[in-house]
Parts: sequence; C-alpha cells; structure tokens
Amino acid sequence: MVEKLSLQDIDVKNKRVLVRVDFNVPIDKKGTITDDTRIRASLPTIEYILNHEGICILMSHLGRPKGRSEEFSLAPCGKRLSELLRRPVQVAKDCIGQDVKKMVDALKPGDVLLLENVRFYEAEEKPELDNTFAKELSSFGDIFVNDAFGSAHRAHSSVATIAAHFPNFAVAGFLLQKEIQFLGDAFQNPKRPFFAIIGGAKISTKIGILESLVQKVDALFIGGAMAFTFFKASGISIGDSPFEESMIDSARTIINQAQSKGVSLYLPIDIVIADSFSNDAKYKVVQSSVGIPKGFQGMDVGKQTIEAWTDLLQNGKTIFWNGPLGVFEFANFANGTIQLAKALSALKDTATVIVGGGDSIAAIQGAKLSDNFAHLSTGGGASLEYIEKGTLPGIEVLTNK
Ligand code: 3PG
Repeated sequence: MVEKLSLQDIDVKNKRVLVRVDFNVPIDKKGTITDDTRIRASLPTIEYILNHEGICILMSHLGRPKGRSEEFSLAPCGKRLSELLRRPVQVAKDCIGQDVKKMVDALKPGDVLLLENVRFYEAEEKPELDNTFAKELSSFGDIFVNDAFGSAHRAHSSVATIAAHFPNFAVAGFLLQKEIQFLGDAFQNPKRPFFAIIGGAKISTKIGILESLVQKVDALFIGGAMAFTFFKASGISIGDSPFEESMIDSARTIINQAQSKGVSLYLPIDIVIADSFSNDAKYKVVQSSVGIPKGFQGMDVGKQTIEAWTDLLQNGKTIFWNGPLGVFEFANFANGTIQLAKALSALKDTATVIVGGGDSIAAIQGAKLSDNFAHLSTGGGASLEYIEKGTLPGIEVLTNK
C-alpha cells in the first residue's frame, strides 16, 4: 500500500481541521454510553489538533438510523468527549446547513465542534445520490483527517468521497495509523506459529476473511454458530442449531484448502446444547463427534474444547481473535468466550495477541483484562476487511505521502 500523509506531517495551526471519527458507541435507553472506548481512542488526534492551535470539527455516524431521530443523536458523545477532554464541546443540531456554517465560522483555535449524525442524510451511505452532501461537509474544513478506523471499510460520503475535496490535505489520524500498523505488521510479517480464532454467527459475513486466513495462518480455530455449518459440511448432525445451507460448499472448500496447505483446522470438541434459544433453557454437554440430537441446539463450546484450545494456543507467537465462541449475550452461554479471553490474556509475554470485534472485546473488558493484549482493534468489520484486502476505501482516498 502507498504510504499516506499523516496528521503529524501537516501544520494545523489556525486551520479548521475536519475529523471523521467513529463515535458509533453503545448507548442504553437512558442515553448513557455503556462503552466509550471509541471516543477515548480518538483523543490523541483531537488533543494533538487542540495542542497545536487548530480548530477541531468532528463528524461521525451513530447506529443505522432511517432518517433523523433523537435516539441516534450524537449529543451524549459530545457530553462524554467534553468530560474526557476537560473542555467544552459544542454539539451542532445538524451536520450541514446555514446554522452549522454559522457555528463553524465562529470557531477559534482550541475550539471543538461535534456535528450531528451524518447518517441522518441518505447521501452519507449512498454518495451517488447526492454529491453535494460531501462537498458541503468538506466546506467546513481546510484539512480532512480520517481517524474513523471502525468505519474505514465504508465508502461513504464523510469517510471516502469527501477526501476528493482535499487534494493535498486528506490525512490519517493517529488511531487510523495505529490500527494499520498493528494489523499490517501482524498479518504481513507474522511471527510464527500464527493462529486465528474466528467465531460469530454467520460464515457468510466472514467467508472472505476465512478464505484469506487459511492462506496465511498455521492453525485456524472455528467457534460460534458458524461452526455448525462446518459440522454440517462434515456430515455431523447439528440438531436444531442454526446453519447456513448456502455456505456448506464454502465450508467444505475451507476444510479442503486447510488440508492441502497443511493448516490445522480446529472445530469444537464438545458443545453446550440447549432445548431452546434462551438464557434459561435446559442445557447439557455433548461430544461433537456424537452430534447434537433433535430438539437441541448448540449454544457454546464445552470445557474440553477450551482446555484443548488453551493448550494449543500456548505455542502461538501471533494470534488473531474475532467473534464469540457461543451465545455471548446470554450469561449462561458466555463461558467459552470468557474463558478464551482469559486464556489469551495469559499469553501476554509470549505472543502478540490482536483482537477485533465487539463481543470478543466486551469479554476482555468485562474480565478487566484489556491491558494484557497487544492490540484491541476499534474496528469489527473494518479489521476483518483490512486483514483480507490489505487496504480500505477510507484509507485509499487519503493523500499519498
Ligand atoms: C462499526 O460499528 O463496525 C462501525 O461503526 C461501522 O458501522 P456500520 O456497520 O453500521 O457501518
């Protein structure tokens, strides 16, 4: 990938610096942010601009709103950012328009303005509908900084299209640089053995990364509901467990590719099964070689799997983990994911462990183990796509160094 211009390469003094951040954080019904990791992760970029006497104008999306809606307002993020920065943060009621322009024109070096959710406009996600949207956003800045690694896989107006309006001043923020550095180093030149653990519900959303990983890793561990499609492809009965009929051939291809490349492919040895999809369901453990009986569905990996995987993972020098091993949102079926988080945290001194994806990181944070990991990526989909393709739309458009 061509090296891109970075925030530290340009002079921000007295300049209006328009920063795309990813403040897409979880907010509960009372409007409280339940995890502010992504806001904290952008602080180095924001503080750098303020410390160098620049004017900081932030834009982000939140959730997937259908039109304008209070529920998806970025106001709580503005409040939290203000607490973290210990200085006022103005929050605009819109992201474009005359009122926003007035607010921008009144800003002075050291001021921070957060624009309202860019996804209140359809043209954010569909730039082809209206190219004036990106143009109007761009009119608020002299410099464009992309620090939204979590959104960099989206070719959206405020992430990608906008950069064309800053021919020489579209630069990478510190979070974007850090993510690229960790993921790039780990995947381009990994210390071996290199292992990947992929969980989550659907193969269809992760087929690209599985195909890419099987070419790169020494061992691939597959958990979560997607393991059932692999079991099905191997002729093992899965009872009422969810699986993707259309992905059975893809699962077979991955199994065959792993075999021909000498990559060890590990599926769960034992499975916690339940008689319904609920936290209170009756459950028991079966050996996966025996299969899951009708009337039951797989909900988590069993203890034997965790013990065996913990032993195998000890040898890893680079380990990438994305996706829960079970139904993490149900406390009774979160154990496999939590135990894996603990097992990986114990490898702090012997392996570079990189984690991407909301549930995996929530398990690590819940167990207060974040400090034991080389890198917790702020991007779920973005980290997978970056690993698969080596670049992202929001990186490609930045000015070449
Ligand atoms: C994410 O949470 O992965 C990013 O903020 C992107 O959000 P999206 O999947 O709604 O585009």
